[in-house]
Amino acid sequence: MSLEELERVARQARDNAHAPYSGFRVGAALRSASGRVHAGCNVENAAYPEGCCAEAVAIAAMVVAGEREIAELFVIADSPEPVPPCGGCRQKLAEFAAADARIHMATTGGRRAVMSMRELLPGAFGAAHMGRG
Ligand code: THU
Repeated sequence: MSLEELERVARQARDNAHAPYSGFRVGAALRSASGRVHAGCNVENAAYPEGCCAEAVAIAAMVVAGEREIAELFVIADSPEPVPPCGGCRQKLAEFAAADARIHMATTGGRRAVMSMRELLPGAFGAAHMGRG
């Protein structure tokens, strides 16, 4: 799947975002090691802290499908600048993405940025710190 296709899936996912509180809809699409694509959108809740980010939902979809490795991720929102994953999502992504995995960020208006997982979360805490890596 090309980057353009990944963007298309992320845009479609964003269309289904449940964001009545922030009004900020986010879509994410990730390609796993097998080549399959898993999508997510943000899902907010009247109890605000219970909301989920688009990236977290895409990760959950990947795990439900029996996969564990993120090859590439695309996240998109209607913002002036490409939206980077929040701190919590960086940690969630680092669980399943190698340090050189590419995280693409885009605006609905067509701006793009890309960073590696290593750049997004340098010095990440991981399984190795517990002697499990
Ligand atoms: N949000 C995401 O889904 N992903 C991000 O990378 C940044 C923030 C969501 C969470 C919340 O529903 C809304 O955007 C505003 O913070």
